Amino acid sequence: MASLKHLLGIDGLNPVSATNLLDLAESYALLNRSGKTQRDSLRGRTLINLFFEDSTRTRTSFELAGRRLGADVVNMSVSTSSVTKGETLLDTAATLNAMNCDLLVVRHKSSGAPALLAQKVGASVINAGDGTHEHPTQALLDALTIRRHKGRISGLTVAICGDIAHSRVARSNILLLTMMGNFVRLVGPPTLVPGSIGVNGVEIFHDMEEGLKGADLVMMLRLQKERMSAGLVPSSREFFTYYGLDRKKLAFAKPDALVMHPGPMNRGVEIDSEVADDAARSLIKEQVEMGVAVRMAVLDTCARSNT
Ligand code: NCD
Repeated sequence: MASLKHLLGIDGLNPVSATNLLDLAESYALLNRSGKTQRDSLRGRTLINLFFEDSTRTRTSFELAGRRLGADVVNMSVSTSSVTKGETLLDTAATLNAMNCDLLVVRHKSSGAPALLAQKVGASVINAGDGTHEHPTQALLDALTIRRHKGRISGLTVAICGDIAHSRVARSNILLLTMMGNFVRLVGPPTLVPGSIGVNGVEIFHDMEEGLKGADLVMMLRLQKERMSAGLVPSSREFFTYYGLDRKKLAFAKPDALVMHPGPMNRGVEIDSEVADDAARSLIKEQVEMGVAVRMAVLDTCARSNT
């Protein structure tokens, strides 16, 4: 596999390197399912999880992935670090550098923070979500989940719905899905799906019925209220009426369309529990499971490029 020192965004991948990561992740998914979870490819390596923003599944799955590959894993969250004492991002980086960290997983509210760190540390930097910019491992785990269920990750119609404007998950998915030759549709109110988001080949819809027609996958996104500067949505109840995914709206998509959500979900706002918990239609739990496998593949690949 080609060398990949950092994973700062889908932007830095091409169809071959993305497919290699998915193939390696698939083999880890099978090993994880068979219970043979312990490997030692990262034995003696140090992984630091540096999270400046809250996270449940991303931080936990990077931690599990690192441990399953035999790395020493240290979790740092802002509330317990000297960042609250006024230390700058780059001072923190220098401190981590002095500890000879091999892999640095970063989540930060500012777009571009992981890229800045990558210039300042010797470690491989992996972007675990930066502002509204990118969340590359989420897009990779989504692609792996799709490929496992549809048998391919090209030629599919994927409707990404809801708060596109504030979503780094949407950005990374748009980049990866279009790069692999899928048809991406963005569906939501004009305040949350600005025309300027348009990328080559991506279609924009403001109506769920039109946007979901013929879709193979329906990917729902959380309303990222913490990133909204003004009230872009009149009320949660109204949002659900027009854009919340329930059985009735899911019926606009293909009969075998599958439902995804990166989590955390706001039940009754962007998605109805009846759809989210329907084992025959919802891939949401498997997305979490594939998160560990994808992060193992990314850590492994970056560590091998950084010896
Ligand atoms: C997402 C994130 O943090 O970008 N969550 C995740 O990583 N699974 C999406 C969100 O916060 O809504």
